[in-house]
Amino acid sequence: MAEDLIKDNVNKDIVVLSIESSCDETSAAVVKNGREVLSNIIATQIDIHKRYGGVVPEIASRNHVDCISTVVDEALNKAGTTLDDIDLVACTYGPGLVGALLVGLSTAKAMAYSAKKPFLGVHHIEGHIAANYITHKDLEPPYICLVVSGGHSNLVYVKDYTEFEILGRTRDDAVGEAFDKVSRVIGLEYPGGPKIDKLAKEGKPTYKLPKTFFEDSLDFSFSGIKTAVINLVHKEGDKINVPDLCASFEEAVTDVLLSNLLKACEMKGTTKVALAGGVSANSYLRSRLDKMGEENNLMIYYPELVYCTDNAAMIGAAAYFDYIAGKTSGWDLNAIPYLKLGDKLRK
Ligand code: KG4
Ligand code: ZN
Repeated sequence: MAEDLIKDNVNKDIVVLSIESSCDETSAAVVKNGREVLSNIIATQIDIHKRYGGVVPEIASRNHVDCISTVVDEALNKAGTTLDDIDLVACTYGPGLVGALLVGLSTAKAMAYSAKKPFLGVHHIEGHIAANYITHKDLEPPYICLVVSGGHSNLVYVKDYTEFEILGRTRDDAVGEAFDKVSRVIGLEYPGGPKIDKLAKEGKPTYKLPKTFFEDSLDFSFSGIKTAVINLVHKEGDKINVPDLCASFEEAVTDVLLSNLLKACEMKGTTKVALAGGVSANSYLRSRLDKMGEENNLMIYYPELVYCTDNAAMIGAAAYFDYIAGKTSGWDLNAIPYLKLGDKLRK
């Protein structure tokens, strides 16, 4: 494998301590050689934010501060390592909530500086993509990755471990955002994705919802589907069949995602496809993608469920590939809330 050749040059195992705190999960992990997870501790704040119907940034930052030290200690202990055994300290530096990002970033820098270890900032979405390397030890670029999270929806051509080309992106809501907004309107708790996933299994896609496709572009738009659901709920009131609505919403979103994904495969002449991000946990999306894979002779990869939503192991995986490609970050690295995929490459 290409990475074995690079690693031979480094000539030793690389153990990364990684931190993720971009939204409402405080997580720390110890990952060996980008694919082997020695520990992955996740402290989720979902129960705290539930009562507000979504993530409250200031509350998220405060909770990260409260638990980051414990989470990092636990990750090191569970992996049976001390900071001495660590080769690199990595953390997410964007995109995400600025206050939340700063907690992980300051912790990672302080730990790396005090232990005289190199430090590296990781792009959150590159982390989501790299989650696939943990689950699939044989997965190598190039492939197409459909990144569907709460904040992002991108069709990415993964040229190499550290090289990404965006083929399409959402022009308005991210897929996960649409799931969460629709679920709020039908009275389900935050985060809505898993609840819609479950209810849709009891329903049929009987409601007609609009699907947006752009000519000569693989971009997405989900605000039309979301607005149509909101209008339908207001019009029908109690008469609405919630499981059918969930099934219809999932079908409309999945039709759009998979249609563009197939076009991207044709465009790049690739038969390897990976899913990434929180919405890649969706069972309907997975089953439709499996079917599409069978019909079109595609090889399909998904991360295990625990690595779909935010976690630090995926950040440790991405950091490893950056590190063996010769990258580290300076102590002046700041949190970048709107960091775009590929920005790092232009530095
Ligand atoms: O990747 P992630 O943990 O955070 C971001 O980076 O945004 O994604 C969270 C999103 C939420 O919108 C949540 O509703 C959605 O992933 N999600 C799901 C499922 N599990 C999580 N959406 C659909 N079906 C699921 N099973
Ligand atoms: Zn995420």
